[in-house]
Amino acid sequence: MLEHTVSTQPIEGQRPGTSGLRAKVKVFQQPHYLENFVQAVFDSIGDISGQTLVLGGDGRFYNREVIQIILKMAAANGFAKVLVGQGGILSTPAASCVIRKYKAFGGLILSASHNPAGPDEDFGIKYNMGNGGPAPEQVTEAIYARTLNISEYKILDCADINLDEKGEFSMGDMQVEVMDAVADYAALMQELFDFDAIRGLFAQDFSFVFDAMHAVTGPYAKVILEGMLGAPKGTVMNGEPKDDFGGGHPDPNLTYAHELVDILYADDAPDFGAASDGDGDRNMILGNHFFVTPSDSLAVMAANATLVPAYSKGIAGVARSMPTSGAVDRVAEALGIDCFETPTGWKFFGNLMDAGKVTLCGEESFGTGSDHVREKDGLWAVLFWLNILAVRQESVEGILADHWATYGRNFYSRHDYEAVDSAAATQVLQNVRDQFDSLKGQTLAGRVVQMCNDFAYTDPIDGSVSENQGVRVLFEDGSRIIFRLSGTGTSGTTIRIYLESYEADTSKHGLDAQTALKDMIDAANSISKLPELTGRDKPTVIT
Ligand code: G1P
Ligand code: ZN
Repeated sequence: MLEHTVSTQPIEGQRPGTSGLRAKVKVFQQPHYLENFVQAVFDSIGDISGQTLVLGGDGRFYNREVIQIILKMAAANGFAKVLVGQGGILSTPAASCVIRKYKAFGGLILSASHNPAGPDEDFGIKYNMGNGGPAPEQVTEAIYARTLNISEYKILDCADINLDEKGEFSMGDMQVEVMDAVADYAALMQELFDFDAIRGLFAQDFSFVFDAMHAVTGPYAKVILEGMLGAPKGTVMNGEPKDDFGGGHPDPNLTYAHELVDILYADDAPDFGAASDGDGDRNMILGNHFFVTPSDSLAVMAANATLVPAYSKGIAGVARSMPTSGAVDRVAEALGIDCFETPTGWKFFGNLMDAGKVTLCGEESFGTGSDHVREKDGLWAVLFWLNILAVRQESVEGILADHWATYGRNFYSRHDYEAVDSAAATQVLQNVRDQFDSLKGQTLAGRVVQMCNDFAYTDPIDGSVSENQGVRVLFEDGSRIIFRLSGTGTSGTTIRIYLESYEADTSKHGLDAQTALKDMIDAANSISKLPELTGRDKPTVIT
């Protein structure tokens, strides 16, 4: 067994984005591309000799090859042990759970989340810290800086490990434990939720469909929902993970999860529907003919948290990403707890949770989670909802109507324009920025503009500052229009427009969000000149 030091040269473009480094598989397959990045991680995270690393991915195309390369590099770089999920699989929340449970030094998660998979599609890799959460910006920037001056990497020349066989193996001086990918995560879920109550719900006249979208949550959902909780076989649809996600785009929203949406909007629709994404951290919640926005889902969870055993004593505080609607703010106010507003990306929640300031957090992008791990967690959110439904014995729609009657409704929608020309996208935001001063005090969409700015965040725990996190037009009545460029795409640029308006009047709560927000949508187009600059007359995805 030979340890090699391989000469290499810096490769441009390896700066991690909102959630790790993402690129086309073909880019990752270029000589040294993966190895340079992994070595840059190992060089930037402190003294790793004798430490344990967690390793796993969402099972997309190229996952297995990458696992073998990383194992050999981890061995050559001095790790004592790697915990790897069987078959090279670990959902993102399961990886976070395993890092925390076994007090690993950190973990490498191989995923491009909901982005399509296959030889011509996407791959991704990100480093998570010992708290189980995504590396903060100081660390990802250090990794990036290292990719720019790297000259060699270390790798062992040895046989591959059989990833399908559970057990302990050696690779040089390093131990590799191929572990059950589901067991630790399932045990954690059982600790948090009232499994007896949920089992009781399934024994009633209650129907439920969970769409794993051919991605990583299939095995987790089958074990937990159909196995431990006794949901009927077949509750989990598209439950066999495929390395190309069945050719689909496993993003649980109204556009990409249309198979599930069609079921929930059919004449004989079930009571409850849910889906998760490629790597298992996102979720979509549906009732019979009813869609719950992720922002509302977070607010409902916060308002009903004490119904769930893990949160029965109350929650310490909540946090939401800046573009997420203010629905949860109103619950926090009523509960007398803090509500933090952070930039987009789960990495900003970690410090708040580690400091015990926040128990629940979420993003409008179909992500909700709690301090049980340090990632957003799709199945956790579904179990949270099942727990609420089991206790309250009301429909999803009924629970939302009651919520809005209590707190008012934050009408909310996100419009995405995907694969737009980068220069045009930058100009769309700049057009709004150029009007920051002139818009102030003006009436737009029947509302007075209170202020405009580029959102900046100072982390209350470590004082780090993150600037340019979204262009905002804020109205006096609390309505908001926000423009952001995506940090996770791999082709062209994606413009996201976030629209929100608050309605206290219960008689108007039944309105469709697009109708309620129509004047805001028109205002967003007109101040940004988006249609003219991009040539698009409608968004690619509306959620
Ligand atoms: C998107 C979402 C963001 C989420 C991230 C990773 O990032 O908007 O909320 O944390 O994916 O799932 P974006 O593409 O907007 O940078
Ligand atoms: Zn994801």
